Amino acid sequence: MKRMLSGIKPTGQLHLGNYIGALRHFVDYQDEYEMFAFIANLHCITVPQDPAELQKNLKDCVALYLACGLDPSKATIFLQTDVPQHAQLGYIMCCHTYMGELNRMTQFKDKQAHGETNLSGGLYTYPSLMAADILLYDPDYVPVGDDQKQHVELTRDLAIRMNNRYGDLFRVPEPLVAKTGARIMSLSNPEKKMSKSDETNKGCIYLLDSEKVARKKVMSAVTDSLGRVHFDPVNQPGISNLMQILSSLQDDRSMADIEQEFEGKGYGDFKRAVADAVCGKLNEIQTRYNEIISSGLIETTLDDGAAKARKIAAVKLEKVQRAIGMEIIEK
Ligand code: AMP
Ligand code: TRP
Repeated sequence: MKRMLSGIKPTGQLHLGNYIGALRHFVDYQDEYEMFAFIANLHCITVPQDPAELQKNLKDCVALYLACGLDPSKATIFLQTDVPQHAQLGYIMCCHTYMGELNRMTQFKDKQAHGETNLSGGLYTYPSLMAADILLYDPDYVPVGDDQKQHVELTRDLAIRMNNRYGDLFRVPEPLVAKTGARIMSLSNPEKKMSKSDETNKGCIYLLDSEKVARKKVMSAVTDSLGRVHFDPVNQPGISNLMQILSSLQDDRSMADIEQEFEGKGYGDFKRAVADAVCGKLNEIQTRYNEIISSGLIETTLDDGAAKARKIAAVKLEKVQRAIGMEIIEK
């Protein structure tokens, strides 16, 4: 069975973009692959966090992973800091990453270009840590949104560099970007990605939003004046985004099929259908979330997951340190 690994960084509440772009795919993958899914809490603190809020987001994130259908008997689910080898290999990877490479990473560059000040060293070197997260487990595939592809490319470069220098240490992984739903856009500004950093909060549907709030966000989504439900992300970005959402929530139904259903109908009807699909999905997820959140399942899932992950990670870290010449005692 091929191995797959992905991390999720819950610096805020999980939203529909996370579900469509990442979570729902994990659920499909767990049957086909040996799946490792971890909560990237080290990555969370690369930007300032409120401790109480961070802890709530982390716990909610695990609960939502499980509520969306990730099954701890199939997938290994763990918290990054429960496996200290991530930080350890992260440092080693950092020492093998050129500053020129980090300077080219768009996430940091974008924040800098926006004039954000007091950016942390952790944020700058985070792609090296992400490489460690991946390479510890020798996955074949890393499913990511398109914004993360560059980081997986760097991971590949680092793996090849170290394999050439020290001998065969790492499997060189492939990024896996889902063709549909890789980029769900903000409902209030369809030129921008749906994101928790949405200033107005109107463009982002959180998985724990009430039905009323979620419905209102969909019904007030920005559209256009063309008045036809047609998939054309350039000229009708708002409508195309809503179509993308509907398609993703209805088994990747084709755009042609959606166009046909809404031919001659107004945007009001179309938005109501999208709102129904979104609220139906949120209701399903929230029902399970409420069962899980205080059931003890989160704790046992993380304990079991970390124990399994640590075994693999410890062997890999030891192998790397030995190859580099850092170890003295024979183990
Ligand atoms: P983030 O919330 O940005 O840390 O992203 C967590 C995961 O969800 C990553 O795999 C992202 O690529 C994915 N993701 C985040 N926002 C979106 C979005 N608007 N559309 C599709 N996927 C997304
Ligand atoms: N950087 C990813 C994000 O922002 C999260 C992440 C951390 C990750 N480590 C990873 C994703 C390893 C895939 C593999 O979404």
